[in-house]
Amino acid sequence: MEALEVIDPKISAIRKQFPILEQKVNGKPLIYFDNGATTQKPLQVIHSIVDYYSSYNSNIHRGVHTLSQTATARYDKARVIVGSFINAGTSNSVIFTKGTTDSINFVANAYGNKFVHEGDEILVTAMEHHSNILPWQELCKRKKALLKVLPVDENGVLKYDELDSLLTAKTKLFAFTHVSNTLGTVNDVQRLTEAAHAKNIPVLIDGAQAVPHLMVDLGLIDADFYVFSGHKMYGPTGIGVLYAKEKWLNQFNVYQTGGGTIKSVTFEQTEYSEGPHKFEAGTPNIEGAIALAEAVKFMEDFGIANLARYEHELMEYATKRLDEIEGIKLIGTAPCKAGVISFNVGKIHPFDIGTLLDKQGIAVRTGHHCTQPLMQCYNIQGTVRMSFAVYNTKQEIDVFIEALKKAVKMLS
Ligand code: ALA
Repeated sequence: MEALEVIDPKISAIRKQFPILEQKVNGKPLIYFDNGATTQKPLQVIHSIVDYYSSYNSNIHRGVHTLSQTATARYDKARVIVGSFINAGTSNSVIFTKGTTDSINFVANAYGNKFVHEGDEILVTAMEHHSNILPWQELCKRKKALLKVLPVDENGVLKYDELDSLLTAKTKLFAFTHVSNTLGTVNDVQRLTEAAHAKNIPVLIDGAQAVPHLMVDLGLIDADFYVFSGHKMYGPTGIGVLYAKEKWLNQFNVYQTGGGTIKSVTFEQTEYSEGPHKFEAGTPNIEGAIALAEAVKFMEDFGIANLARYEHELMEYATKRLDEIEGIKLIGTAPCKAGVISFNVGKIHPFDIGTLLDKQGIAVRTGHHCTQPLMQCYNIQGTVRMSFAVYNTKQEIDVFIEALKKAVKMLS
């Protein structure tokens, strides 16, 4: 089969920016439905990395020479672009990290070491990714604190009515995801934040699966900490963001020490700098931050509202068509979902479906999606997960459905 015809000219133009999509996999045009794991990268992001290494590679905040000045200006501008994208209020609240996991570990250490004590509680939800469980679990072990869990219902909606009793005088932080990577559920983050703040409890929101798909306005959400990854939003791997209110950053000790974090050093003592640099020890991922700003521009050029609307259309279309598969069971049927569909078919193992889909050029994720406790809630081993991005099309979904029918027939 030749490349799929893409009918919408706007999407057709978008696809041309993603050279990786032009290839065949196992002799079939690649259909990439594993965007929850990582998105593909547009040419403007790829070019920005090539441009950095071909034209102005040098270290930042350390040189008076021209290349260093250029790199410094672009890195600092990237912080402003990313900050304004999430309406951070000030770019001083934007810290570049390695990604979501790194950002959460940062908060679990910088906040946790200072403010969490024996007998305290940390609240998470049952739909968290391991990376928003393990740092809190370890913190609780270190501090002899207790990890508590807000449950989900059978549709993949949080049990909001249990929130009030779980947020107690002992709760020192509430950490929850904005969008579930497994269920696609979009949580009511304003409601969750307001409930915690009403009891003076700070919140950390894992936005890894939200920022690529929805308008995220931290002026409205009022999170204390909001974290996300570059590679899930058309940017490179190894770069991510920790947004933190300045009132917290001003109280944090350095998380990692090293070059770039200081004002002055003697053998006796060190005076640390203020603002985000205090928390970006060593030479940072300079080209990553610059390329992340390009990814933001790519998303803004398409329009976040357009992107959200288009992906929602894809999700609704795929959900409807999946109904044709005998024995299908969707895991995650919340009324408000972003572009993720998880499912199982009868007793067929998700890996077997994933392997046969791959033979037909289709990439999906299979397994527990780094949410084993959530799998335990539903008493399943894993799911097959389709997750969409702006370059996906209804035509691809049609091909996927036929491929899935074929796989199911072979495995039944
Ligand atoms: N957290 C990523 C996913 O959901 C890797 O696939």
